[in-house]
Amino acid sequence: MDIHTNIPLKNFTTMRLGGPARFFVEVRTPEEVVEVYKNAKTQNLPVFILGGGSNVIATDVGFAGIIIRMRIPGFSVVADDINSTTIQVGAGESWDSVVERTVTMNLSGIEALSGIPGTAGGTPIQNVGAYGQEVSETIESLVAYDTQTDAFVTLANIDCGFTYRDSIFRGVDMGRYIVTSILFKLSKNPPQPPFYEALQTYFAEHSITIFTVQAVRSAVLDIRSNKLPDPALLPNTGSFFKNTIVEDWQLSGLRAIDPNIPTYDMGDDRYKIPTGWLIEQTGLKGKVLHGMKIHDKNALVLINESATSYADLAAARDEIIGAVRDKFQIQIEQEPLEI
Ligand code: EPU
Repeated sequence: MDIHTNIPLKNFTTMRLGGPARFFVEVRTPEEVVEVYKNAKTQNLPVFILGGGSNVIATDVGFAGIIIRMRIPGFSVVADDINSTTIQVGAGESWDSVVERTVTMNLSGIEALSGIPGTAGGTPIQNVGAYGQEVSETIESLVAYDTQTDAFVTLANIDCGFTYRDSIFRGVDMGRYIVTSILFKLSKNPPQPPFYEALQTYFAEHSITIFTVQAVRSAVLDIRSNKLPDPALLPNTGSFFKNTIVEDWQLSGLRAIDPNIPTYDMGDDRYKIPTGWLIEQTGLKGKVLHGMKIHDKNALVLINESATSYADLAAARDEIIGAVRDKFQIQIEQEPLEI
C-alpha cells in the first residue's frame, strides 16, 4: 500500500472541486482497511472512506486526515435457488459493472439502477435509488469493519436503517462502519409492470411489450443519457438535492402558493415533492450561478461549468435554497455528503 500526501480531492470527486487530502491510500483487502484505520487512530488522524467520489463534495480546505479509497474487488454467487440468486460484491467494484453482470445473468432487482456512477460500497450509504428501485430492496446484508468494536460485523438489511436516500451510515452511525462487501438477493423472475412513470412512457413510445432485465437496463441508460450529464464530461454529482418530504398538514399551505404542486403519496401521511419542480418554479433552471449551472434538463442537478472552488458551489447552493425558501417556505436539502 502506498500512502500519498497532499492529494487534491478535486481529482477524486466528480464535481471536480475540493482542496488537498493530507494522506491518501487505496485499500484492496479488508485487512488493509483495518491496518490503515488503526494507524490513523494511533496518529489521531480523521478517516474518510471514498468510493468513486460521485456523491461526495469536498471543501476548499481539503481533509486534514487520511482518505481511504475503497478498491476491494469481488463478485461471486453465494446462494442460488429456483427463485433467486444471492451475490456477494466487494465494496470497491464499479457499481455499473455489477449491474451489467447481474443483467447478463438475467437477474432482476438492480437493473433500474443502471448507469449510476460510483462504487458498490457507496450504494448502501445513501440507499441509492432510481426508476423505481432502491438498493435497500435487494441488500440482504453487508459486512463492515466496526471501528468501535474493532471487529468485522454482518449487518442485516434491517440493521442498516434504510430510508429515502439515507441509512445509519450517513446518519446516527456516521463514521462508525467501513463497508467491505454486500450481499444482494436478486430475483430470477422477469421485471413486472407497473414500472416507474418514465419507464412506462419509454416502453410505450418504443413499442416494447416484453419486459426483460435487459430491456429495463437499456431503457434506463437511454433515459439517463438524456436527463443526467455524464460526470466524465460535465462535472456533477447527479441529484444535488434530495426530493422534499412533507407531512400532510403542510400541503394546504403549499397548494395555496401553487395549486399545481406535484405530490407523491408515501404513506404514513407523508408526501414527496420533486425538488426539481420546486427549483424550476423559482426560474433558476438553466441559469448559471457562480459558475454552477442548474441543469436545463433537470433542475435537481448542478453542473460545475466554471466554478473554481467549493465556495462558488456553496454560494450557488445557498442562493437556490434561499429562492425555494422565499417562494415555498420549504427548506430543501443537499444530497451528496460533504467531507
Ligand atoms: N421535475 C420537474 N422539474 C425538474 C426536474 C424534475 O418538474 O427540473 C419533476 C418531473 O417532471 C417529475 C418529478 O419531478 O414529475 C420527478 O422527476 P424524475 O423522475 O426525473 O426524478 P427526480 O426526482 O428528478 C430522482 C432521483 C434520481 C433518479 C430519478 C429517477 C433523488 C434525489 N433523485 O430524481 O437519482 O435517477 O429520480 O428515478 O431522489 C441521484 O440521486 O443522483 C439521482 C440521479
